[in-house]
Amino acid sequence: MGTSRLPTGIASVDRLLGGGLETDGVTEIYGEGGSGKTIFCLDLAARVARSDRWVLYVDTEGVSLERLRAGAADDLERVLARLLLSAPKDLDEQGRAVATACALARDGRHDTGLIVLDSATNFYRLSLSGPDEDDAREALAVQVADLVSTARTQGIAVVLTNQVWRSVRDGQLEPLGGSFLNHAAKTILRFDRDTGPLRTVVLVKHRSRPDGRGSFRITSTGLESVGGG
Ligand code: GTP
Ligand code: MG
Repeated sequence: MGTSRLPTGIASVDRLLGGGLETDGVTEIYGEGGSGKTIFCLDLAARVARSDRWVLYVDTEGVSLERLRAGAADDLERVLARLLLSAPKDLDEQGRAVATACALARDGRHDTGLIVLDSATNFYRLSLSGPDEDDAREALAVQVADLVSTARTQGIAVVLTNQVWRSVRDGQLEPLGGSFLNHAAKTILRFDRDTGPLRTVVLVKHRSRPDGRGSFRITSTGLESVGGG
């Protein structure tokens, strides 16, 4: 028996993932600004909330309620009723928000279908190359470990997003957050900007699926699969 899956509703992505996001591990999505990480998280959150399961959403970027409204369409009230949103302003607050989300997911009183941390590295990035870098990395590692163990023990899909830096050596976009983040994530997706509203999704790491790619299009009401369904 395989791990159960949370469908994203985007056919090309679900195909890539063998049905959807694994519900006992952390999925990392990295990509440059505007690649669609936040829209993906918001759309997925609306989808899960619509199914009457709770979404615990930690937003370090100032979530676009406007965007959620577009994605949720007529179901906005229903979606908001199942969404617990926190908007930390620094890495310490982010740590408390993640700890609270994990505790809520564990206590069993909320039937939780998804935890989102978007972006995991927004505040961490600010400390890079500064005197607090080691502390920040340690703080982030604690958060990610909590998310990993919550996903595993509770069977809840966790999505965290990650920003990128461009390697001076080969010009490639690399995820921030150090190798511990990439080890902690059981699945890693990279979102690439294509032309116009098109985005390519690259499966970089998965424990049971071959590498591959798919596409989606950003529209005013959500994300649409591109290519073969
Ligand atoms: P960062 O948080 O900056 O790292 O970026 P992100 O990867 O989270 O990107 P986000 O999900 O915020 O993507 C926003 C992208 O979607 C931008 O390129 C917008 O121009 C585009 N976008 C937003 N709404 C629409 C829409 O209604 N139609 C189209 N075609 N594009 C849209
Ligand atoms: Mg974003």
